Amino acid sequence: MAGRFGRDELKARLRAASPAILPSLLASDFGNLQDEIHRVEEAGACALHLDVMDGHFVPNISIGIPIVEAVRRVTDLPLDIHLMIERPERYVEQFRAAGADAMTIHVEAVADPRPLLDKIRSMGALAGLSLNPPTPLSAIEASLPHSDLILVMSVMPGFGGQKFDASALEKLSTLRDRSDVDALLEVDGGINSETVGQCAEAGAELLVAGVAVFHTDDYAATIGQLQSKARARSAAPQL
Ligand code: DX5
Ligand code: ZN
Repeated sequence: MAGRFGRDELKARLRAASPAILPSLLASDFGNLQDEIHRVEEAGACALHLDVMDGHFVPNISIGIPIVEAVRRVTDLPLDIHLMIERPERYVEQFRAAGADAMTIHVEAVADPRPLLDKIRSMGALAGLSLNPPTPLSAIEASLPHSDLILVMSVMPGFGGQKFDASALEKLSTLRDRSDVDALLEVDGGINSETVGQCAEAGAELLVAGVAVFHTDDYAATIGQLQSKARARSAAPQL
């Protein structure tokens, strides 16, 4: 089953919902994954973030293609697939077929992201490009016109529950202030009630949160609180 949303439709939908909290399933209870997904769905999540790790690009192994396919079967929410893998070009077709609506590759993982971003777009998915905290914005400059989404990492990828790296804020505000950049701006890592507001203020439209959501009891209350803190500090027009 392919993704359920077309590119333009999904981009408009996510932008309309922004600033939005995207629960990262990495911090969920994998023993009760269907229940966890339904709980965040009922709590008002507008999309799910899935972290794919290969043990090479990052020193951890997590979700793979069969899990994306299983998640696709139990929810209608858009699936935002974060590919922390080497040679992502080998797998994007399979992830799309498994149900990915957005696929984000890392600039550090490929020599030139542009052909792969174009390929992701040609499959009808949102094409995302991510950069790690030490990577400067100049590394993604040439790829900006090929990207529907820019994922600014605020931790070194690989693990949940790490401390927020404030270097993400300047990257977000620089991208937000550029009139020639229309990509969705997403931030990932260490997002919690302390950091969500500054990220939204800097221009983050999609705010990924793992531990901050799944390590609480009341997902609706947590997502609601994070969302209202983000909205209070966001410059985006409010509906
Ligand atoms: C880290 C992943 C994140 C992770 C975030 O490599 O990309 O999506 O799940 O987890 P928290 O929100 O707990 O920092
Ligand atoms: Zn992620």
